Amino acid sequence: MELQVTKPDDWHLHLRDGDLLEAVVLHSAKHFGRAIVMPNLKPPVTTTVAAMAYRDSILKALPPDSIFKPLMTLYLTDNTRPSEIKLARNSGVVAVKFYPAGATTNSQDGVTDIFGKCFPVLEQMAEQNMPLLVHGEVTDSSVDIFDREKVFIETILEPLIKKLPQLKVVMEHITTMDAVRFVESCREGYVAATVTPQHLLLNRNALFQGGFRPHNYCLPVLKREVHRQAIISAVISGSKRFFLGTDSAPHYRTRKECSCGCAGIFNASVAISLYTKVFEEAGALDKLEAFMSFNGPEFYGLPRNSTKIVLKKSPWRVPESYAFASGEIVPMFTGEMLEWLPCDI
Ligand code: DOR
Ligand code: ZN
Repeated sequence: MELQVTKPDDWHLHLRDGDLLEAVVLHSAKHFGRAIVMPNLKPPVTTTVAAMAYRDSILKALPPDSIFKPLMTLYLTDNTRPSEIKLARNSGVVAVKFYPAGATTNSQDGVTDIFGKCFPVLEQMAEQNMPLLVHGEVTDSSVDIFDREKVFIETILEPLIKKLPQLKVVMEHITTMDAVRFVESCREGYVAATVTPQHLLLNRNALFQGGFRPHNYCLPVLKREVHRQAIISAVISGSKRFFLGTDSAPHYRTRKECSCGCAGIFNASVAISLYTKVFEEAGALDKLEAFMSFNGPEFYGLPRNSTKIVLKKSPWRVPESYAFASGEIVPMFTGEMLEWLPCDI
């Protein structure tokens, strides 16, 4: 069995820099036409100049004949200026990422009060039609980690959208039925969500299967089965509000398997097989192409990719790990058999 689909894009990706960038970028470039590249480097990508330099280093890490296109983002801080947004827009930066300070990897320079100093920047973004990409979790240590997305929606996202309805917002890597309901309740074309393979395939039991599983640890953390089911229903509904964003977030094995392991799942090499698995198991393969290849570009006002890929039902084993000169990376579904193999035509 074979399935031809328009080449997908990844609307949420961590490519890192230096050795790690060189190690992982080919996996994304092999499978995706474009990717929105997250700016949470050390130091973060807070200016247009830094975003352009980062883009150059990504392009340099690719083979000369690659047509993979990195789409760049800026990291929002309390000190970002509205003039930076204009400059970014004119330089081809596609979006701005909002990390609540302390929410996740390299978010320490993130926003402390989105309704305060940042507001003129958000107004400028709405004017420039520049989407805000949101890591939707509160950071209050008194809020249970499994409730942080829901509380973020109630206390930050809903009020923000009421105050600035013209702002385009992507709720990244949604993990709850609350997020699904919220996104569905908003104006189509203004609020959308990316969905990862891990939040479609795993519930929080996967963190503790026969012992602690650091390679299934990401943020927002995996949730209960009812939430996973709600996210599956959302993506197979055919709604344009949901699209592919892997949140592939590589960390070296040594940084995952240690006393304070990093959050992030490396899935760039398996993502398309995994999304296909989800849609097949839900009897919704007819909805897969729009989710992977149409809804994202439509939201961002970009053309669809013009090339196609073929998904072959041809079992293959996910490598246990990928070894690079700089270290080893363990992929999602390490060592397991997958049914669908994505191939170029
Ligand atoms: O699991 C995650 N890893 N979640 C994020 O929000 C950041 C990412 C990373 O950069 O490692
Ligand atoms: Zn991410």
